[in-house]
Amino acid sequence: MPADPAVVADLSELVRLEDPDFYSDDPFPLYARLRRESPVHYYEPLDLWLLTRYEDIREVGRTPLIFSSSDGILLNDFRYGNVVASFFPPNAENFALDGPPRHAELRKAIRTPFSPVNVAKLNEQVRSVVVEILDAIVPGEDTDWLTDVAMAVPSVMIATLLGMPPEDRPLLDGWANEIIKMGAAVGKEELAEVAAGLGGMYAYFADQLADRRRNPGTDLLTALAQAEDAGALNNETVHMMVAGVLSAGNETTRNLVAGLAVAFSEHPEQYARLVTDPTLARNATDELLRWITPVRGFGRTVTEDTEIGGQAMRRGQRVYMLYGAANRDETVFADPETFDIGRDFREAMHLSFGFGEHSCIGSSLARLETATVLEEMARRFRSIELAGTPRRHAQLLANAYESLDVTVRV
Ligand code: HEM
Repeated sequence: MPADPAVVADLSELVRLEDPDFYSDDPFPLYARLRRESPVHYYEPLDLWLLTRYEDIREVGRTPLIFSSSDGILLNDFRYGNVVASFFPPNAENFALDGPPRHAELRKAIRTPFSPVNVAKLNEQVRSVVVEILDAIVPGEDTDWLTDVAMAVPSVMIATLLGMPPEDRPLLDGWANEIIKMGAAVGKEELAEVAAGLGGMYAYFADQLADRRRNPGTDLLTALAQAEDAGALNNETVHMMVAGVLSAGNETTRNLVAGLAVAFSEHPEQYARLVTDPTLARNATDELLRWITPVRGFGRTVTEDTEIGGQAMRRGQRVYMLYGAANRDETVFADPETFDIGRDFREAMHLSFGFGEHSCIGSSLARLETATVLEEMARRFRSIELAGTPRRHAQLLANAYESLDVTVRV
């Protein structure tokens, strides 16, 4: 049983960032207490400042030279050192960790396929993928929503983006599931083993890149092969980018599509609203992003003595941005503990895609995939309910499930 945050006086006893149960056992009362009593909270085990307020997190995003990604962004980076970097080839320039100005130059190399205009061109493709997946569901029977829907949709789309043959999708899924372990609640040795096991993936993509040089297409692998040939990126950086997109684009959207089944099962009146008015799908996607917060948080290292929210911090200390807490900040969102698919985001957008320099490059794609799932669900299913209790993944980074079954009705 988690300690009751209203009863236990000392916040330091309650904040357990390295324990996956800290995030799964309804952390929101505690997040509210942190925002109220200790919004820039010192977390002694990692010499880290935990940020829970919307504006404080935006301030970090705005100042990447002071709040740097270069020493890692995961809790596991801060626990063990260099975990993200160890998952990618040694000479790779990792744009998720680079700061200005190099970060923007590297990001440019993969920006085009992710632009809202180019993602909009995928509209029909996304729809046909989603239609096929949802058409296979048998109403009234238990459905493995996690595998059959939440994993399948982003996986098919990432494979398409990379220009991979459909039969190779299980391979891609397997590697994406390995890479995401960098954010799991596991020990240093296990992380090193996972990183060492990625050789097969890099060999596979070397073949694929060679193939795109012989047969160029319009996919991301072709664009990366051409960027390497033009001297803009070295070979290791190309591999880093492929592996980064493969992992960042899969698991995150998976957790959103999984989480939406839970959210709507728990709030059938909101699902009924979507069925009545499927044009709410786009807005509902952002409310689901706010509500679920598929990526729990990222960190930064302080490069010079500074302050946030009036709290002084020293060079070398860390900050950790708890997006799920900022997404319920009552000074920004009206009635933040209410799930409302009609919520008005014109004044303030949630922070589930991060903010500033490193904000998510795949946000348009993730939004398109999820909104399409919602539209097609609304068209087919009158209701959705959980079949059994979902099981959570022992993750620190991702708000992820290990199993999640539902029953839909028409
Ligand atoms: C619901 C889905 C998604 C969520 C919640 C999400 C969340 C995030 C967040 C919070 C960041 C900020 C990282 C930071 O500040 O250090 C980020 C960055 C990133 N995301 Fe996503 N993401 C999603 C989908 C995707 C997709 C579909 C792709 C690619 C296909 C993608 C690729 C990336 C990449 C490459 C970065 C690094 C950007 C940079 O450092 O400049 N993400 N994402």
